Amino acid sequence: MKKTIIITGGLGHIGSYLIENFLRKKNNLHLIIIDNLQSQRYSSLFNLKLKGNKFSFYDLDLTKDSISDVVKNANLLIHLAAITDAENSVGKESLYKKNNLNCTKEVIKFCKKYNVPFIFPSSTSVYGKMKHNEILFEDNQKILYPQSPYARIKLKEEELIKQNFEDIRSIIIRLGTIVGKSKGMRFHTAVNKFCYQACMNKEITVWKSAYNQVRPYATLNDFYRIIDFFIKNEKYINNQTYNLVTKNLTVKQIIDIIKIKKKINLKFVNSKIMNQLSYKVSNKKISNLGFRPIYNIKSEIFETLKTFKFQNKIR
Ligand SMILES: NC(=O)c1ccc[n+]([C@@H]2O[C@H](COP(=O)([O-])OP(=O)(O)OC[C@H]3O[C@@H](n4cnc5c(N)ncnc54)[C@H](O)[C@@H]3O)[C@@H](O)[C@H]2O)c1
Repeated sequence: MKKTIIITGGLGHIGSYLIENFLRKKNNLHLIIIDNLQSQRYSSLFNLKLKGNKFSFYDLDLTKDSISDVVKNANLLIHLAAITDAENSVGKESLYKKNNLNCTKEVIKFCKKYNVPFIFPSSTSVYGKMKHNEILFEDNQKILYPQSPYARIKLKEEELIKQNFEDIRSIIIRLGTIVGKSKGMRFHTAVNKFCYQACMNKEITVWKSAYNQVRPYATLNDFYRIIDFFIKNEKYINNQTYNLVTKNLTVKQIIDIIKIKKKINLKFVNSKIMNQLSYKVSNKKISNLGFRPIYNIKSEIFETLKTFKFQNKIR
């Protein structure tokens, strides 16, 4: 029997990587992909190789439509649907709140009613302040100071999930900024934006306040691996919160990796998000379950740079 997995927001940067990679191996899965295409990533559905798996796509807006209109039974739901541009969320808190919080409400309602476990990718941006060289762990409530509307709403979504712990089975994964290429990738996250700017011979715009600050990054491959891990170890879907970081790095270290392949021209700009602070997050809790991230940020960045090799020769 095929396992049914629902992926909301499945056409986006992360979702398109998951669907392509889950479908191209003999996993015996039926993927139910839901997306309202507000991000216009139609291309995520192109040329999917199935290897005996199956997928269905539904164009639904989770702020208005019910998941149960298209499916009532599933082994797992991965909830990726959200408006995601953190920097642009400044001044648009009510839009992000209306969309992202209501999507999560619909997911909780569905998962509660039909007893479907789910995974929610939160963000390490829910952490905000840290003392010098402090490493952040998941279960300390005193270190949560999100700095953007996007991150504040992520924290509200987490709280909503936690309020329902008695009636649901879920995992919250606080994910570092994603690095890696996918069919539905977006370019407003730091690393992808830098790669694009470098390949197009544009100035690389770096937030002045962020250059030497340490931030957590996670590869698409590690996120895929952790989902695969929870599919194979369902007993661990037990209402815990985990950080997932492939490596904590400074923006300068990221730029130095790009520099190996491309000549770059740096321009420092002011960030709309105030109080940009350094933070490192720990993987200790997820490591205790037996999951280890694979450190391959450099090769993921090189792969992203190759995407634009038509434009400029890569050394
Ligand atoms: N990419 C990262 O660096 C990163 C880091 C931490 C957490 N996350 C979280 O992971 C999740 C997925 O991120 P992503 O990078 O793939 O984002 P993305 O913007 O590329 O994809 C999100 C998808 O959700 C869809 N969507 C938005 N609102 C919807 C609605 N009302 N109904 C149905 N579909 C809707 C969009 O059309 C889009 O395809 C998000 O919750 C994001 O906050 C991402």
